[in-house]
Amino acid sequence: MNKGLSDVILGNLKPIKQGKVRNVYDLNDCFLFVATDRISAYDYILGSPIPDKGKILNQLSKFWFQFLSSITETHFLEDDVLKYPESLQAFEPLLQGRSMLVKKAEVIPVECVVRGYISGSAWQEYKQSGTINESKIPNGLIESERLETPIFTPATKASSGHDENIPFEKMVELIGKEKSTLMREKSLSIYNAARDYLDKRGIILADTKFEFGLIQGDILLIDEVLTPDSSRFWPKSKYTPGKSQESYDKQFVRDYLNRIKWEKKPPAPALPEEIIHKTRDKYLEIFKIITGKELE
Ligand SMILES: Nc1ncnc2c1ncn2[C@@H]1O[C@H](COP(=O)(O)OP(=O)(O)OP(=O)(O)O)[C@@H](O)[C@H]1O
Ligand SMILES: [Mg+2]
Repeated sequence: MNKGLSDVILGNLKPIKQGKVRNVYDLNDCFLFVATDRISAYDYILGSPIPDKGKILNQLSKFWFQFLSSITETHFLEDDVLKYPESLQAFEPLLQGRSMLVKKAEVIPVECVVRGYISGSAWQEYKQSGTINESKIPNGLIESERLETPIFTPATKASSGHDENIPFEKMVELIGKEKSTLMREKSLSIYNAARDYLDKRGIILADTKFEFGLIQGDILLIDEVLTPDSSRFWPKSKYTPGKSQESYDKQFVRDYLNRIKWEKKPPAPALPEEIIHKTRDKYLEIFKIITGKELE
Protein backbone atom coordinates (compact mmCIF):
# COMPACT_ATOMS: atom_id res chain seq x y z
CA MET A 1 0.00 0.00 0.00
CA ASN A 2 1.25 3.53 -0.81
CA LYS A 3 1.95 5.98 2.01
CA GLY A 4 -0.78 8.44 1.20
CA LEU A 5 -0.54 11.95 -0.15
CA SER A 6 -0.36 14.76 2.43
CA ASP A 7 0.30 17.55 -0.01
CA VAL A 8 0.45 18.26 -3.71
CA ILE A 9 3.29 19.99 -5.51
CA LEU A 10 2.58 21.12 -9.07
CA GLY A 11 5.85 22.79 -10.03
CA ASN A 12 5.52 26.55 -9.64
CA LEU A 13 1.74 26.55 -9.55
CA LYS A 14 0.66 27.65 -6.09
CA PRO A 15 -2.76 26.83 -4.63
CA ILE A 16 -5.07 29.79 -4.08
CA LYS A 17 -6.63 27.82 -1.29
CA GLN A 18 -5.71 24.86 0.88
CA GLY A 19 -8.65 23.38 2.72
CA LYS A 20 -8.41 20.58 5.21
CA VAL A 21 -8.56 18.07 2.37
CA ARG A 22 -8.37 19.87 -0.98
CA ASN A 23 -5.91 22.14 -2.74
CA VAL A 24 -7.53 24.58 -5.15
CA TYR A 25 -5.61 26.10 -8.09
CA ASP A 26 -6.66 28.99 -10.27
CA LEU A 27 -6.35 28.11 -13.97
CA ASN A 28 -7.96 31.41 -15.09
CA ASP A 29 -10.95 29.84 -16.89
CA CYS A 30 -11.66 27.37 -14.09
CA PHE A 31 -10.33 25.93 -10.84
CA LEU A 32 -8.31 22.76 -10.51
CA PHE A 33 -9.57 20.88 -7.48
CA VAL A 34 -7.13 18.29 -6.08
CA ALA A 35 -8.15 15.96 -3.24
CA THR A 36 -5.23 14.93 -1.04
CA ASP A 37 -5.28 11.96 1.36
CA ARG A 38 -5.39 14.28 4.36
CA ILE A 39 -7.92 13.36 7.03
CA SER A 40 -9.35 15.70 9.61
CA ALA A 41 -11.15 15.01 12.84
CA TYR A 42 -12.65 17.53 15.24
CA ASP A 43 -11.60 20.23 12.72
CA TYR A 44 -7.87 19.40 12.78
CA ILE A 45 -5.81 17.75 10.06
CA LEU A 46 -4.29 14.61 11.57
CA GLY A 47 -0.65 13.57 11.35
CA SER A 48 -1.21 10.60 9.00
CA PRO A 49 -2.89 10.60 5.61
CA ILE A 50 -5.21 7.72 4.59
CA PRO A 51 -3.83 6.22 1.35
CA ASP A 52 -6.22 6.73 -1.63
CA LYS A 53 -8.78 8.67 0.40
CA GLY A 54 -8.47 11.67 -1.95
CA LYS A 55 -9.09 9.48 -4.99
CA ILE A 56 -12.09 7.90 -3.33
CA LEU A 57 -13.64 11.26 -2.45
CA ASN A 58 -12.89 12.74 -5.86
CA GLN A 59 -14.36 9.82 -7.78
CA LEU A 60 -17.41 9.58 -5.51
CA SER A 61 -18.14 13.27 -6.00
CA LYS A 62 -17.81 12.84 -9.75
CA PHE A 63 -20.22 9.89 -9.64
CA TRP A 64 -22.80 12.00 -7.80
CA PHE A 65 -22.33 15.10 -9.97
CA GLN A 66 -23.24 12.95 -12.97
CA PHE A 67 -26.06 11.21 -11.10
CA LEU A 68 -27.52 14.56 -10.02
CA SER A 69 -27.12 16.40 -13.31
CA SER A 70 -30.84 16.25 -14.10
CA ILE A 71 -31.70 17.72 -10.67
CA THR A 72 -29.21 20.54 -10.38
CA GLU A 73 -26.52 22.52 -12.11
CA THR A 74 -23.11 21.50 -10.69
CA HIS A 75 -19.56 22.85 -10.82
CA PHE A 76 -18.11 19.69 -12.44
CA LEU A 77 -16.36 20.25 -15.78
CA GLU A 78 -13.78 17.54 -16.48
CA ASP A 79 -11.69 14.89 -14.77
CA ASP A 80 -9.70 13.43 -17.66
CA VAL A 81 -6.25 14.90 -17.16
CA LEU A 82 -5.46 14.47 -20.88
CA LYS A 83 -8.04 17.20 -21.48
CA TYR A 84 -6.52 19.55 -18.89
CA PRO A 85 -4.30 22.46 -20.01
CA GLU A 86 -0.96 21.49 -21.54
CA SER A 87 0.99 22.86 -18.55
CA LEU A 88 -0.55 20.18 -16.29
CA GLN A 89 0.22 17.16 -18.47
CA ALA A 90 3.52 16.51 -16.71
CA PHE A 91 1.58 15.91 -13.49
CA GLU A 92 -0.79 13.35 -15.00
CA PRO A 93 0.29 10.48 -12.71
CA LEU A 94 -0.42 12.57 -9.65
CA LEU A 95 -3.64 14.20 -10.87
CA GLN A 96 -5.44 11.34 -12.64
CA GLY A 97 -8.30 10.07 -10.50
CA ARG A 98 -7.84 12.56 -7.68
CA SER A 99 -8.63 15.85 -9.39
CA MET A 100 -11.24 17.65 -11.43
CA LEU A 101 -11.68 20.95 -13.19
CA VAL A 102 -14.59 22.91 -11.76
CA LYS A 103 -16.42 26.13 -12.53
CA LYS A 104 -15.26 29.12 -10.53
CA ALA A 105 -18.03 30.10 -8.19
CA GLU A 106 -18.59 32.56 -5.40
CA VAL A 107 -19.11 30.30 -2.37
CA ILE A 108 -22.39 30.99 -0.56
CA PRO A 109 -21.39 30.97 3.12
CA VAL A 110 -24.14 28.66 4.38
CA GLU A 111 -23.70 24.91 4.64
CA CYS A 112 -26.87 23.14 3.55
CA VAL A 113 -27.42 20.15 5.82
CA VAL A 114 -30.31 17.74 5.28
CA ARG A 115 -31.22 15.21 7.95
CA GLY A 116 -33.43 12.19 7.54
CA TYR A 117 -32.42 10.77 10.93
CA ILE A 118 -31.57 12.45 14.22
CA SER A 119 -27.87 12.20 14.99
CA GLY A 120 -24.74 14.24 15.74
CA SER A 121 -25.25 17.89 16.69
CA ALA A 122 -29.01 17.67 16.02
CA TRP A 123 -29.36 14.87 18.57
CA GLN A 124 -27.29 16.86 21.09
CA GLU A 125 -29.56 19.88 20.72
CA TYR A 126 -32.77 17.84 20.78
CA LYS A 127 -31.73 16.06 23.98
CA GLN A 128 -31.11 19.41 25.64
CA SER A 129 -34.05 21.45 24.42
CA GLY A 130 -36.40 19.36 22.27
CA THR A 131 -35.47 21.44 19.22
CA ILE A 132 -33.32 21.11 16.10
CA ASN A 133 -31.85 24.38 14.80
CA GLU A 134 -34.19 26.05 17.30
CA SER A 135 -37.31 24.54 15.68
CA LYS A 136 -39.66 22.47 17.80
CA ILE A 137 -39.57 18.76 16.94
CA PRO A 138 -42.10 16.17 18.21
CA ASN A 139 -41.34 14.70 21.65
CA GLY A 140 -40.10 11.21 22.33
CA LEU A 141 -37.52 10.67 19.57
CA ILE A 142 -34.61 8.39 20.40
CA GLU A 143 -31.05 8.72 19.10
CA SER A 144 -30.66 7.84 15.39
CA GLU A 145 -34.42 7.58 14.89
CA ARG A 146 -35.83 8.32 11.45
CA LEU A 147 -37.52 11.71 11.22
CA GLU A 148 -41.11 11.86 9.99
CA THR A 149 -39.83 13.75 6.95
CA PRO A 150 -36.29 14.96 6.03
CA ILE A 151 -35.46 18.40 7.40
CA PHE A 152 -33.22 21.20 6.18
CA THR A 153 -30.86 22.39 8.94
CA PRO A 154 -28.42 25.05 7.66
CA ALA A 155 -25.15 25.94 9.35
CA THR A 156 -22.56 28.69 9.11
CA LYS A 157 -18.86 28.46 9.67
CA ALA A 158 -18.26 30.21 13.00
CA SER A 159 -14.92 32.01 13.41
CA SER A 160 -13.68 29.12 15.58
CA GLY A 161 -13.82 26.96 12.45
CA HIS A 162 -16.64 24.97 14.00
CA ASP A 163 -19.98 24.85 12.25
CA GLU A 164 -22.85 26.62 13.94
CA ASN A 165 -26.40 25.45 13.29
CA ILE A 166 -28.79 28.27 12.44
CA PRO A 167 -32.56 28.55 12.02
CA PHE A 168 -33.79 28.97 8.44
CA GLU A 169 -34.87 32.55 9.29
CA LYS A 170 -31.25 33.36 10.17
CA MET A 171 -30.14 32.03 6.77
CA VAL A 172 -32.72 34.32 5.14
CA GLU A 173 -31.28 37.28 7.07
CA LEU A 174 -27.78 36.37 5.91
CA ILE A 175 -28.28 35.69 2.20
CA GLY A 176 -31.90 36.60 1.37
CA LYS A 177 -35.19 34.79 0.96
CA GLU A 178 -34.96 33.83 -2.69
CA LYS A 179 -31.59 32.12 -2.50
CA SER A 180 -32.40 30.47 0.82
CA THR A 181 -35.64 29.00 -0.46
CA LEU A 182 -34.02 27.72 -3.64
CA MET A 183 -31.12 26.17 -1.73
CA ARG A 184 -33.50 24.47 0.68
CA GLU A 185 -35.55 23.10 -2.21
CA LYS A 186 -32.49 21.85 -4.10
CA SER A 187 -30.96 20.32 -0.98
CA LEU A 188 -34.11 18.35 -0.17
CA SER A 189 -34.49 17.14 -3.78
CA ILE A 190 -30.87 15.99 -3.89
CA TYR A 191 -31.20 14.28 -0.53
CA ASN A 192 -34.35 12.45 -1.62
CA ALA A 193 -32.81 11.22 -4.87
CA ALA A 194 -29.62 10.04 -3.15
CA ARG A 195 -31.55 8.45 -0.28
CA ASP A 196 -33.65 6.37 -2.67
CA TYR A 197 -30.57 5.28 -4.64
CA LEU A 198 -28.66 4.32 -1.49
CA ASP A 199 -31.64 2.57 0.05
CA LYS A 200 -31.59 0.05 -2.82
CA ARG A 201 -27.95 -0.63 -1.98
CA GLY A 202 -28.57 -1.27 1.71
CA ILE A 203 -27.37 2.12 2.90
CA ILE A 204 -29.22 4.65 5.02
CA LEU A 205 -28.38 8.27 4.21
CA ALA A 206 -28.73 9.62 7.75
CA ASP A 207 -27.65 13.16 6.92
CA THR A 208 -25.49 15.06 4.48
CA LYS A 209 -24.09 18.51 3.77
CA PHE A 210 -24.07 20.44 0.50
CA GLU A 211 -22.39 23.66 -0.53
CA PHE A 212 -23.71 25.95 -3.22
CA GLY A 213 -22.06 28.71 -5.20
CA LEU A 214 -23.08 31.55 -7.47
CA ILE A 215 -22.08 32.25 -11.03
CA GLN A 216 -23.67 35.38 -12.50
CA GLY A 217 -26.59 35.10 -10.13
CA ASP A 218 -27.25 31.41 -10.81
CA ILE A 219 -27.00 28.84 -8.02
CA LEU A 220 -25.02 25.65 -8.57
CA LEU A 221 -23.89 22.69 -6.46
CA ILE A 222 -20.17 22.93 -5.65
CA ASP A 223 -17.51 21.38 -3.42
CA GLU A 224 -17.71 17.64 -2.67
CA VAL A 225 -21.00 15.80 -2.63
CA LEU A 226 -22.38 12.74 -0.82
CA THR A 227 -19.00 11.43 0.34
CA PRO A 228 -18.24 9.84 3.73
CA ASP A 229 -16.60 13.16 4.71
CA SER A 230 -19.81 15.09 4.14
CA SER A 231 -22.42 12.45 4.99
CA ARG A 232 -23.43 9.84 7.50
CA PHE A 233 -23.91 6.53 5.70
CA TRP A 234 -25.27 3.72 7.85
CA PRO A 235 -25.51 0.05 6.85
CA LYS A 236 -29.22 -0.81 6.93
CA SER A 237 -28.53 -4.34 8.15
CA LYS A 238 -27.04 -3.01 11.40
CA TYR A 239 -29.44 -0.16 12.04
CA THR A 240 -30.59 -0.11 15.68
CA PRO A 241 -32.06 3.18 16.90
CA GLY A 242 -31.45 4.25 20.51
CA LYS A 243 -27.69 4.66 20.16
CA SER A 244 -25.12 6.07 17.78
CA GLN A 245 -24.68 4.00 14.60
CA GLU A 246 -21.73 2.42 12.91
CA SER A 247 -20.95 4.51 9.84
CA TYR A 248 -18.73 4.42 6.77
CA ASP A 249 -16.39 7.18 7.79
CA LYS A 250 -13.93 8.25 10.44
CA GLN A 251 -15.42 6.28 13.28
CA PHE A 252 -12.24 4.23 13.86
CA VAL A 253 -10.25 7.44 13.89
CA ARG A 254 -12.55 9.20 16.32
CA ASP A 255 -12.63 6.15 18.60
CA TYR A 256 -8.85 6.00 18.57
CA LEU A 257 -8.50 9.71 19.35
CA ASN A 258 -10.91 9.30 22.25
CA ARG A 259 -8.98 6.28 23.52
CA ILE A 260 -5.69 8.19 23.62
CA LYS A 261 -7.55 11.15 25.18
CA TRP A 262 -6.25 13.69 22.66
CA GLU A 263 -7.36 17.11 23.88
CA LYS A 264 -8.51 18.22 20.43
CA LYS A 265 -5.88 20.90 20.07
CA PRO A 266 -2.55 20.96 18.19
CA PRO A 267 -0.43 19.01 17.67
CA ALA A 268 -2.82 16.53 16.07
CA PRO A 269 -1.55 12.97 16.52
CA ALA A 270 -0.42 10.49 13.86
CA LEU A 271 -2.42 7.28 13.54
CA PRO A 272 -1.30 3.67 14.06
CA GLU A 273 -1.05 1.47 10.94
CA GLU A 274 -4.06 -0.57 12.03
CA ILE A 275 -6.33 2.46 12.25
CA ILE A 276 -5.08 3.75 8.88
CA HIS A 277 -5.80 0.36 7.26
CA LYS A 278 -9.25 -0.06 8.76
CA THR A 279 -10.24 3.47 7.83
CA ARG A 280 -9.02 3.02 4.26
CA ASP A 281 -11.02 -0.21 4.00
CA LYS A 282 -14.17 1.58 5.14
CA TYR A 283 -13.77 4.31 2.52
CA LEU A 284 -13.10 1.68 -0.17
CA GLU A 285 -16.11 -0.35 0.92
CA ILE A 286 -18.58 2.52 0.63
CA PHE A 287 -17.04 3.53 -2.70
CA LYS A 288 -17.73 0.07 -4.07
CA ILE A 289 -21.27 -0.03 -2.70
CA ILE A 290 -22.19 3.36 -4.17
CA THR A 291 -20.53 3.18 -7.58
CA GLY A 292 -20.57 -0.59 -8.07
CA LYS A 293 -16.95 -0.28 -9.25
CA GLU A 294 -13.44 -0.67 -7.94
CA LEU A 295 -11.38 2.47 -7.47
CA GLU A 296 -9.58 3.58 -10.68
N1 LIG B 1 -16.63 25.70 -7.46
C1 LIG B 1 -16.03 26.28 -6.42
N2 LIG B 1 -15.60 27.55 -6.54
C2 LIG B 1 -14.96 28.15 -5.49
N3 LIG B 1 -14.70 27.56 -4.31
C3 LIG B 1 -15.11 26.29 -4.14
C4 LIG B 1 -15.80 25.60 -5.19
N4 LIG B 1 -16.10 24.37 -4.73
C5 LIG B 1 -15.64 24.30 -3.46
N5 LIG B 1 -15.03 25.45 -3.08
C6 LIG B 1 -14.34 25.71 -1.81
O1 LIG B 1 -13.08 25.03 -1.89
C7 LIG B 1 -12.70 24.49 -0.61
C8 LIG B 1 -12.47 22.99 -0.71
O2 LIG B 1 -11.49 22.56 0.15
P1 LIG B 1 -11.76 21.61 1.42
O3 LIG B 1 -12.98 20.79 1.21
O4 LIG B 1 -10.48 20.93 1.71
O5 LIG B 1 -12.03 22.74 2.49
P2 LIG B 1 -12.60 22.54 3.97
O6 LIG B 1 -11.50 22.38 4.89
O7 LIG B 1 -13.72 21.59 3.94
O8 LIG B 1 -13.28 23.95 4.13
P3 LIG B 1 -12.62 25.29 4.59
O9 LIG B 1 -11.74 25.77 3.47
O10 LIG B 1 -13.82 26.14 4.76
O11 LIG B 1 -11.87 24.97 5.85
C9 LIG B 1 -13.82 24.85 0.35
O12 LIG B 1 -13.48 26.02 1.03
C10 LIG B 1 -15.02 25.11 -0.60
O13 LIG B 1 -15.95 26.00 -0.03
MG1 LIG C 1 -14.74 20.58 2.54
